[in-house]
Amino acid sequence: MKSILAIYPGSFDPVTNGHLDLIERGANIFDRLVVAVLQNLEKDPLFPLPERVEMLKEVTHPWRNVEVDIFNGLLVDYARQRKAQVILRGIRAISDYEYELQLALMNRKLEPTIETVFMMPSEAYSFLSSRLVKEVVRLGGPVDGMVPPLVEKRLRAKVK
Ligand code: PNS
Repeated sequence: MKSILAIYPGSFDPVTNGHLDLIERGANIFDRLVVAVLQNLEKDPLFPLPERVEMLKEVTHPWRNVEVDIFNGLLVDYARQRKAQVILRGIRAISDYEYELQLALMNRKLEPTIETVFMMPSEAYSFLSSRLVKEVVRLGGPVDGMVPPLVEKRLRAKVK
């Protein structure tokens, strides 16, 4: 039987409950799911790579078929190297669609054999993004229910 490996790529600066919702959905559908953290972010990340990876490893521990890894350069090169058949991306709202479509079609042009699969996180997280969570914490607002408790703790420590 064919086993499907999917890559779920992103910045994860930091991981949110929206990401976790998608990881759970992906882990239920695919045989193996690799959460791949982009190393060289163009934007300055709040959390350095080791911290982003450490938090992800801790919160994805319950899923036995989920692995956390890092990647550099082109996503399709990494996916090819991992022999992945699928790239998983989340779409929260129509506003995500245009960018995601562009990304998926560029990736298809670069590597036609790898399929991008879009999944929707629960509508409870449709407003959620790492960027907004960081802003709320920076301005002293509450983020409970938006990120795992360990991420909230680290966020608060960062902005102190
Ligand atoms: O969490 P993000 O920031 O939305 O993730 C974007 C990511 C990491 C998936 C995207 O920027 C990416 O794949 N970067 C790697 C370089 C690459 O392959 N770019 C796509 C060619 S169009």
